[in-house]
Amino acid sequence: MENFPAFSPGALARLEEIKKKYPPGRAALMPALHVAQEDFGWLKPEALKAVAEYLELPEMTVRSTATFYSMYRHKKTGRNVIRLCTNVSCLVLGARTLKGILEGLYGLAPGNTSPDNRFSLEIADCIGACGSGPAMLVNDDLHTGLDAKKVIEVLENYK
Ligand code: FES
Repeated sequence: MENFPAFSPGALARLEEIKKKYPPGRAALMPALHVAQEDFGWLKPEALKAVAEYLELPEMTVRSTATFYSMYRHKKTGRNVIRLCTNVSCLVLGARTLKGILEGLYGLAPGNTSPDNRFSLEIADCIGACGSGPAMLVNDDLHTGLDAKKVIEVLENYK
C-alpha cells in the first residue's frame, strides 16, 4: 500500500481497490472523490489535494470534477445528510410539508446544518423515486412514501 498520510488506512485500502479496477488517470476520479468525501466528511481543499496527489492528476482537474456534480459536498455537514426531493412528483405528494417539518422540528434550512450538528439538509432535484414520493435520502438510505409522522420516525434512527 502506498504512503498517503492524508487518508485513513481504511480509505487508503478502498482507494487501492479503486485504482486496481480502473485504468490510470481520470477514470478513477469520481469513486476516489466519494472515498475522500467519506473520509474527510466533505471535500475540503486538503481532500481535493490528497485525491489529486493519489491519482497523479492536476488539482484543477480534480476540483472542476468535484464542483460539477451535486453529490459532492463542499462544506462541512452534520453527522447525517438529508437530501429531500422537492421536484414536481414529490412536491405534489407533500414534500413542502416535509420541508416545513424539517425546519420547524430540527432547525434545518436548505443548505444548513441543525444547531446540534445532527443533520444537514440539501434539496435534491430528483432522487429516482418519483413514483413513491415524497422521498428523501438520509446518507445513503432511501426513504419513500413519507408523511409528517413517518419522516419523524425515520429521522429518530439517525443520531
Ligand atoms: S421527483 Fe422526487 S424522486 Fe423524482
